[in-house]
Amino acid sequence: MAGQIPQRFIDDLLSRVDVVEVVGERVQLKKAGRNYSGLCPFHQEKTPSFTVSADKQFYHCFGCGAHGNALRFLMEYDKLPFPEAVDQLAGRLGLDVPREGADDPHARERDKKRKEGVNLLELAASFYRERLKMGEGQGAKRYLEGRGLSSEVIKTYGIGYAPGGWEALKQHLGERGISESVQIEYGLLIHREDTGRTYDRFRDRVMFPIRDLRGRTIAFGGRVMGDEQPKYLNSPETPVFHKGRELYGLYEARQASSKLEQLVMVEGYMDVVALAQYGIHNAVATLGTATTEDHLSRLFRLVSRVVFCFDGDRAGRQAASRALETALPLMIDGREARFLFLPESDDPDTLVRREGADAFRDRVTCAMPLSEFLFEQAAQGRDLNTVEGRERFASQVLEALNKVPEGMLKSLLLEALAKRSGLAQQQLQTLLDKRAAPPKEQAHWEPVAEHDHAESREPEYVKRSKPRTRSQALSPVGRIVQLLLHEPGLVSALPDTLEWLPEDDDTPLCRDLIALLQAGRYRSPQVVLAHFQGSPQGQVLAELAKRELLIPKAAREAELLGLVEHLQHKQRKRSPEEEYEALLAQERAGQKLDKQQRQRLASLVVELAQRF
Ligand code: UTP
Ligand code: MN
Repeated sequence: MAGQIPQRFIDDLLSRVDVVEVVGERVQLKKAGRNYSGLCPFHQEKTPSFTVSADKQFYHCFGCGAHGNALRFLMEYDKLPFPEAVDQLAGRLGLDVPREGADDPHARERDKKRKEGVNLLELAASFYRERLKMGEGQGAKRYLEGRGLSSEVIKTYGIGYAPGGWEALKQHLGERGISESVQIEYGLLIHREDTGRTYDRFRDRVMFPIRDLRGRTIAFGGRVMGDEQPKYLNSPETPVFHKGRELYGLYEARQASSKLEQLVMVEGYMDVVALAQYGIHNAVATLGTATTEDHLSRLFRLVSRVVFCFDGDRAGRQAASRALETALPLMIDGREARFLFLPESDDPDTLVRREGADAFRDRVTCAMPLSEFLFEQAAQGRDLNTVEGRERFASQVLEALNKVPEGMLKSLLLEALAKRSGLAQQQLQTLLDKRAAPPKEQAHWEPVAEHDHAESREPEYVKRSKPRTRSQALSPVGRIVQLLLHEPGLVSALPDTLEWLPEDDDTPLCRDLIALLQAGRYRSPQVVLAHFQGSPQGQVLAELAKRELLIPKAAREAELLGLVEHLQHKQRKRSPEEEYEALLAQERAGQKLDKQQRQRLASLVVELAQRF
């Protein structure tokens, strides 16, 4: 990439954009005096504490403290890295972003070319879209309808039709003054060395434009409508298109939701489009290549959870294990990868049509956690009842662990490995340290995700030393977890904030469970269990699930509310020190304090300080 963006450009940019407009496109704002206000997009709230000031050109949330200017907003809300946020803002004003040291003629030439290429591809895309609507496109239209696509989805994905014949696009572009050499360079025209002839690369195919994050067409995939080969033809590598980096559907997924939390990796164009047709807008596909580290680090910059979808057959398992290898070095805390195996001879396209969107969503929810898949892989073909089998098993897991960055996942895996292999954790750690090669270049490990995750991972879980026995009495918090597990719907009966929740062994789990249930879609105990499966908290839940509730359904809500009230009452009677400690603990656990709690914390500090 070219050099740094000059500060004066950024200042100029900020003086020309309107933060109210930028925020207003994403958050519903109401005029309130000189400012605007709305519901804060950075934390959950029911009454607006988020304001945007047109005078000062910044936003501020009195609830969670989020604040900044238009650039900061784009970085936080759209989860854009700094240069891309600058790009976006500049784009709104039709400005080019200058780069220091960009007088480098090569860089300038490259930038110019890039623009030319994109324009040309944009022209081609609209040509294909037009043709789909015309008489010659009727076959393609019927084909798409036959595959169940509505005209809306066709439009969203910009799907078009490349006419038969040899020179339709070449002529169209030629008339617009675009030279053949550029068309060749961008993969639209094929040049035959032997005859010197040139002709359209894509002929009589349904055309899927591949777009970059800003929606600019950078390449195409074209599908035949019959049985000819190849079934799909893709643009070759060009100055703007690198297969191993781009993902089909990513732009559209981000358009569909500005708050993506997870992305589902599928294999094909049609899978992405069919899922969207069924309302599942967060699928992306590689372009006929295996998943690369580049792909993954792009995805993890946008979301914290990636679910890989694979065929249930052997080839699918193999692809999954390659994806696992690729993912391991990227698994810093806060990120999650899961593996979804489809029934044999299905792909997401056929499956969602047969089972519907909800069933597919449930499959995604229940996808296998990375840890489980890793253990499954390592156990395959080994007899864990023998010492040798266990040793090989442990050694394979350790090899994988070696690639995982330091953090929660690594400790959890090590702990689980100790359990499964019967080797002491200390011993495994020593083996692991021994294996650790001299620090490898870590150039492509991302810095900790650019957005902070309020729901940070759960260090507390690991500390639970003794598993609870079945007969042991539950703490009130444990009982709440149990009630919610058996009847997830009860979550809606809970108060909005969790200040009544005291700190005990089960508190982190309780918090996570509540957050998960409040996020929706987890309607049955099985799905909740599946979500936590393979982790220590999963074991705790599994134990709780086995215990009967012993009270009728109708009495459960009353018991839950009774417990909450009991805890609330206890909280009120706490000493200031206890209250202070509890608030700090909550903050440390990554739980944002609400406004009231922050005020309380501030006054407690003063109160406690005065005593000394
Ligand atoms: P599939 O053959 O599974 O295609 O290839 P699909 O997406 O299910 O397509 P339909 O349902 O038959 O229309 C998966 C992906 O592999 C790449 C494409 O990216 C495709 O979407 N591929 C496949 C090619 O690049 N060329 C091919 O000839 C076939
Ligand atoms: Mn298919």
